[in-house]
Amino acid sequence: AANNVVNIVEVGPRDGLQNEKGVIPVDVKVELINRLARAGAQNIETGSFVSPKWVPQMGGTAEVITRMERLPDVHYAVLVPNQKGLDNLFTLLDQTQLSPPVSDEISIFTAATDAFTRANLNTTITESLQRLEPVARAALDRGLRVRGYVSVAIACPYSGPVDFKRVREVAKALADMGCYEVSLGDTVGQGTPATVAEMIEEVKKSVPVEKLAGHFHDTYGTAVANVFAALAQGIRTIDSSVGGLGGCPYSPGATGNVATEDVLYALKDSQYKIAGSNNKTISLDDTVNIGWWISEKLGRESVSRAGRALRAR
Ligand code: HMG
Ligand code: MG
Repeated sequence: AANNVVNIVEVGPRDGLQNEKGVIPVDVKVELINRLARAGAQNIETGSFVSPKWVPQMGGTAEVITRMERLPDVHYAVLVPNQKGLDNLFTLLDQTQLSPPVSDEISIFTAATDAFTRANLNTTITESLQRLEPVARAALDRGLRVRGYVSVAIACPYSGPVDFKRVREVAKALADMGCYEVSLGDTVGQGTPATVAEMIEEVKKSVPVEKLAGHFHDTYGTAVANVFAALAQGIRTIDSSVGGLGGCPYSPGATGNVATEDVLYALKDSQYKIAGSNNKTISLDDTVNIGWWISEKLGRESVSRAGRALRAR
């Protein structure tokens, strides 16, 4: 039988907040993660162990993950760009020694173009892969799950259209390092169902579709359509952000991720079931409320279309 269970990776606390200019209190970040977990989110990206000079907003991640609730059936991931980030995470794991640990998963990331990799990681694709290989191995040795990202899988803000063969090669390199899943990022949000399908067709030649995830920014309003294009290709894991928050500091002009509420709403009454923690699903109503709550904390309205419609109802 076909697998019709869709996994959501909630990236709001990380991708959603990393680009915010104002200071977001640790309390708010902790409450966002706790609310998402209680609403049934099974996979939550909680923050990043990147350089605070590069991405100041993620500087408090160690404090956030130390203070958040840790529900046993939820995976809590942090982004790690290099050995230094992993060392900092390991120090925290040694200090806290909690069960479940403050984080059971890292996400490593690189891109399909050298221009973007230079802007985001200050290196080339090839060097980034060389650096990440021992990071992935050390994390796996310590029992952590390792997830990989390929950014600019459709288009690059610096070098334009992307060669999907490069996406395929980089995705394969990350899978070969032991990533249980590789998320294909339309960082710019320029993808359409046609280009997304073409890209995934190419990547599937080297990485089994069970190991792929889709990560769509909604700059052109195509993100929900791109989610369905990815599902039609056999992908069953979708990254999304509550309230449609998000953006990469090194992708100028790109807007937030596809809103979690919009994905949950669009999949209602379909052949697909959304996986949530404790064999439940993720609550659409709770997600709508969280989207409004966090948007108002940031001084604006929710940009999720379903979130706006459901609140106005
Ligand atoms: P660099 O400047 O080349 O680093 O940056 P370096 O190794 O030369 O070190 C410079 C300084 O940074 C040193 O400190 C290091 O100790 C420190 P100093 O001696 O000057 O005091 N440093 C660190 N501090 C804390 N944590 C660390 C760390 N590493 C070095 N991990 C670096 C290289 C990788 C650090 C930098 O480029 C960086 O942090 N990049 C991360 C950028 C980022 O977070 N981008 C957003 C996430 S990716 C994304 O959003 C896309 C995604 O959503 C998918 C999609 O949409 O496509 C995932
Ligand atoms: Mg992103």
